[in-house]
Amino acid sequence: MSVNILLDRYRHRVNTVLQRYISKLSFKNTALVGAMGYGTLLGGKRIRPLLVYATGNMLHADDAALDVAAAAIECIHAYSLIHDDLPAMDNAYLRRGHPTCHRKFGEDMAILAGDALQALAYSILVNSPMPGVTKENRLAMLSELAHASGVTGMCGGQALDLMSKGKRMTLEDLEKIHRYKTGSLICSAVRLGALTAGAYGKSVLPELDSFSHAIGLAFQAQDDILDVIGDAGMMGKKTSSDKLSGKSTYPTLLGVSNTQAKIRDLYQTSLSVLSILSEQKYNTTMLRALASFIIQRNK
Ligand code: IPE
Ligand code: IPE
Ligand code: MG
Ligand code: MG
Ligand code: MG
Repeated sequence: MSVNILLDRYRHRVNTVLQRYISKLSFKNTALVGAMGYGTLLGGKRIRPLLVYATGNMLHADDAALDVAAAAIECIHAYSLIHDDLPAMDNAYLRRGHPTCHRKFGEDMAILAGDALQALAYSILVNSPMPGVTKENRLAMLSELAHASGVTGMCGGQALDLMSKGKRMTLEDLEKIHRYKTGSLICSAVRLGALTAGAYGKSVLPELDSFSHAIGLAFQAQDDILDVIGDAGMMGKKTSSDKLSGKSTYPTLLGVSNTQAKIRDLYQTSLSVLSILSEQKYNTTMLRALASFIIQRNK
């Protein structure tokens, strides 16, 4: 089976899993649950779940256990996007080709949908059966997700991003923002995949972290590039929003072609880490395909 077909199957798989969790929520016909489903199920590339599956698969973790980690991290990601789009943050109108959650359901429901999706992520990870995963490893996964989502991760990065508006940033400052706001959840997806595999997974965490650091930064640098030269119709979100809100990005500091060169360098770094793993007989095909997708993506 080609790697792209395999990734499509996993994309489809996590969509079904997410659908199931959302459909099991109480208060089904309310604006709150409507907003949660809207923010979660309406499209998205599912990069973070795919990183969970790709890593876990390489380490022979059980797919049913990976479903749990994949759904949990996508709920955190969906919440981060709903809040990122709010008027008090990026004030965005379009997401995944549709009006943003607050435009559809109102700001009040969008805030609560984000909050409730965050709670749902942890409740999925605490309560769902995870074949082959010890209690100790499940705790490690909860701690991992909390670390990557909170002050020490995505939220911390989002705060730095907001405080940077209109200010002149150094490359170092910008890299820090990107590593926190985006890199931490990408890194966490890979780590959750590894932790699902237990001790076998833990033994390759240092290599996996080096891989994720490279692709996490490349992912946000490509997002910044697409904000400048991307096709809004293809991406389903507005372009030029970073410029309009006075955000420093890689293209503003380095220019588009130097940023593209940096992304290629990061890609090469990610591939060299994967070759170390291949030499140890790990099948890195899916991770390799995801790294290449991340740097070539046009949406
Ligand atoms: C967008 O993430 C937000 C960033 C971290 C740059 P994605 O590009 O993964 O968004 P979806 O889930 O595919 O819509
Ligand atoms: C968002 O970065 C990172 C998050 C933690 C959600 P952006 O603000 O650049 O993401 P987009 O461009 O709105 O998707
Ligand atoms: Mg933002
Ligand atoms: Mg934004
Ligand atoms: Mg962006």
